[in-house]
Parts: sequence; structure tokens; C-alpha cells
Amino acid sequence: MRKKLVAGNWKMHGGIEQNNSLLNKVVAGTLGADKATYAVCVPYPYLSQVSSLLKDTHISWGAQNISQHVKGAFTGEVSAIMLNDFFCHYVIVGHSERRTLYGEDSKIVSHKFKAALENSLIPILCVGESLDQREAGLTEEIVGEQLDAVIELVGVEALEHAVLAYEPIWAIGTGRTATPQQAQDIHSFIRNRVASHNTQIATKIQILYGGSVKANNATELFVMPDIDGGLIGGASLLPDEFISICMAANN
Ligand code: 13P
Repeated sequence: MRKKLVAGNWKMHGGIEQNNSLLNKVVAGTLGADKATYAVCVPYPYLSQVSSLLKDTHISWGAQNISQHVKGAFTGEVSAIMLNDFFCHYVIVGHSERRTLYGEDSKIVSHKFKAALENSLIPILCVGESLDQREAGLTEEIVGEQLDAVIELVGVEALEHAVLAYEPIWAIGTGRTATPQQAQDIHSFIRNRVASHNTQIATKIQILYGGSVKANNATELFVMPDIDGGLIGGASLLPDEFISICMAANN
């Protein structure tokens, strides 16, 4: 059985005081809930704080982006190896906000994915379609292309050390969640696509759902057979909401 993972994506939110209070509550509120695993992906400046706060706890941490380059003249960028200094476990790559606002195409994303793996980070690869693409019946084509680009570059075996996240763009930050069946259909499509290369890896890989997951819809999403947890935006900043979502994964 695949263990569920609930990962918070704080996006560009946080502050020293706020992080401290949020994480202390989340640690206490999920204590002993060991049927699932939990993580927070935080802005770079807080990695030092978050790594000291979480180091002896059951909660992992990571970042939200990395450079595809190892080092050099790339002003404003952060390399995968730098994240090792803060003992990051995860890094999100290919979030739709990076793809649409910062022009990251599938080629760049797959090189970021590779950079993460080469530095012992677990990439959380985000894939998902826009509303226009869904309405034009292109969901599988778009998601398939985003996944294939990575498999082509690193090989399917590399997915053994990765997590996938299906995040329909139209459900992100909109309060409009995919129905459990809509999400399940695409999760199953993604798992089958991986299985067409390697069935063992397809069976093992965690596929998270992201897009307006809240305490009141987490359970119905997490009971679907191919949904292995969630990538949580807004609700990961609210301790009680996030703890409830973690608890929904803990069974
Ligand atoms: P929301 O949960 O705020 O919709 O964000 C989802 C997301 O983008 C997580 O990466």
C-alpha cells in the first residue's frame, strides 16, 4: 500500500513569527498520526528557521523551486545543492505558477527535476491543465506531455525517487475543486502512463492532488484509489485546516 503524503505549499507567504506558531501547532496536532507523512515547502529565506524547528519532528520540509543549473552567474537563482545545506527532503518543480508566470516550459522543468534527483532531493513534479485546455478536451494530452518530457530526460526508473502532483490550474486558489471522480480519472491516467513504461514504479509512486483542497473536501478526495494525498496551498497556512487535512490522510 502507498503511504499518503500531505505537503503544504506556502507559496510566497510566511514570516518568522507566523511560521513559528504555525509549525508548532502542526507538529503538535499531527503527533502520532503516523499512517501518513507530512511536509511543508517554504520560501527559501525560511529554510534555516524551518529546518531547526522541524529537525527532530515527523514533519519534512523542502523548497518550491530550484535552478536547473549547478552554479554560476544566475542572479536570483538557488541551486539544488544549496538546499542540501538546509537538509531539504522535497522540492516542488513545475508548479503551474512557475510555468505560466515565469515561462518554465516542460524542457526547463525536466532539467530542474533532474537537478533535484542528482542532489538527493525528492522532486514533487506538478502537472495540470488550464480551464481552456480542459474545455477543449486536451487534459490528457497536456498532462501526458508534461510527464513524458521528464520521463524522456531522466528515464522512468528515476520516478522511483519522485512524487507526482496533479494540479488542474482552474482549481488552484479558486475554491473550485475538481470533483473526486474528475481527479481520480486523471490520476489513473497518469498512473497508467507510468505503467506503460514500468508497472512496479507505477504501483509505488505517490500521486498527490492539488487545487482548493480544504478540511471539508480532503476525505472524499483521499479515499479515491489513485489519490495518494495532497499538495495544499492556502489551507496549509491555517493550522487547524492543515491539521484536519493531514488527519484525513492518516487512515
Ligand atoms: P490552493 O490549495 O490554494 O488551491 O493551491 C494549490 C496549489 O497550488 C498547491 O501547490
